Amino acid sequence: MIQRNHSNALDRSSAERGYLLGIETSCDETAAAVLSLDGVLCSNIVASQHEVHRRFGGVVPELASRKHTEQIEDVVQEAVCCAKIKLADVKAIAVTQGPGLAGALLVGVSFGKALAYAQSIPWVAVNHLEGHLASAWLEQPELNTPCVILVVSGGHTHVYFVPRFQEYHLIGRTLDDAAGEAFDKGAKMLGLDFPGGPALDQLARSGNPQAVRFPRPYLNRGGLNFSFSGLKTSLLYYLRDLKKNDKECALADVAAGYQEAIVDVLVEKTFRAVRRYKVETVAVVGGVSANSRLRTVLKDRSAESGVQLIVPSLGLCTDNAAMIATAGLWAYDRGDFASWDVDAKANLQTKLCHLVEATDVEVVNQ
Ligand code: KG4
Ligand code: ZN
Repeated sequence: MIQRNHSNALDRSSAERGYLLGIETSCDETAAAVLSLDGVLCSNIVASQHEVHRRFGGVVPELASRKHTEQIEDVVQEAVCCAKIKLADVKAIAVTQGPGLAGALLVGVSFGKALAYAQSIPWVAVNHLEGHLASAWLEQPELNTPCVILVVSGGHTHVYFVPRFQEYHLIGRTLDDAAGEAFDKGAKMLGLDFPGGPALDQLARSGNPQAVRFPRPYLNRGGLNFSFSGLKTSLLYYLRDLKKNDKECALADVAAGYQEAIVDVLVEKTFRAVRRYKVETVAVVGGVSANSRLRTVLKDRSAESGVQLIVPSLGLCTDNAAMIATAGLWAYDRGDFASWDVDAKANLQTKLCHLVEATDVEVVNQ
C-alpha cells in the first residue's frame, strides 16, 4: 500500500535552490521523499510490505529485499511526481546506509547511488537512527536545545541528551530487547497479527490497564537504561498459567496491562532524564512513538511538569524517507557527501557528531 503525504506550500525560493530526494529501505518499508533545500517537505511516499510478511508473522529478510527491488523505482517516481518537480531539479540524494537488514539496505543504497551518479549529483549516506532523531525537527524546526530525545523503534530504545543542534549524548539504552520488540513479541504471544505493535495497541484500547499488573523492569534503579526481556517472560508465564489453570481472562486486559508496563517504564525514564539534565523540551520518536497510550501518557506528563513535548505525527513515527531526507539535508548543508565506494552497512555504528555514552548513569541516585 502506498501512502501519500505531500504539500504544495512551496515558494519560489525553494524551486530556485532545488530539492533533495530521500530513500529509505532498511527494513520492510520502501520509502522515498522530496524535501526542498529550504526544508519544506514536498512529498513523502511509503510502500509498506506488511502484506508480504504477515503470513510469516515477522519480516523475512529475503522477501523484504525482493519487494524493495520491485517497488523502489515506482516509489521514487511517485515521490518526484507528487512533489511536482522533475528529476533534474534534485540536487542530492540521501539514502539510509544502515543499520538494518543487509539485503534491504543494499537495494536503497544501490538505487540511490546509481541515480545520483547518472544525474551527476552527490549522495549522502544517512544513519537510520539519525533519521529518527531528525524526525523531531521535521514538523518543529524551531525545536529548542538543550533537550532530551527518546528513540523507540523495533531495533532501538535509546535516550539522548542533546545539548546543541546535531550533538547527541547517549545517556540510556536497552540492555536487551528494544521496546518495539517487546510489543511485537508480546503481540505474537497474544495471538495477534503482524505487525504486532499496532495490533496490541488496538486490542489494549478496550482493556483495563489496571486489571493485570506486569513488572516494571529497571524502574527502581536510578539509571536511564532499560530492559524488556524479563517483561516478555512475565507475559509468557502469565499466559501459560492461565491455560494450565483453565482460567478465563480478557485478552484485552492482558494487552492493556502489558502495554502499560512498557509505557510506564519509557515515560518514567524519559522524565528522569528530563529532570537530571534540567531540560525544558523532550521529543519521542521512532515506530513505538505511534502508540496511542504512550502518546496520551506523555502528553499528560509533560503538561503536569511544564515541559514542551514533541512527538511526530503518526506517519513520521514509523519508518519513512522524510526523516532520512531531513538528516540528509543537514549533511548536505555540512558538505558531508559520501564517496561512490561507500556501501550499505547492516551494523552501522552511529556516526553522529560528538557521541558520548554516559556509562556512569546507573550509579547516580535519583
Ligand atoms: O521505527 P520503526 O518503523 O522501525 C524500526 O526502525 O525498527 O519501528 C517499528 C516498531 C515495530 O516494533 C512496531 O511494532 C512498533 O514500532 N510500532 C508500535 C506501534 N506502531 C509501530 N508499537 C506500539 N504501538 C504502535 N501503535
Ligand atoms: Zn526505524
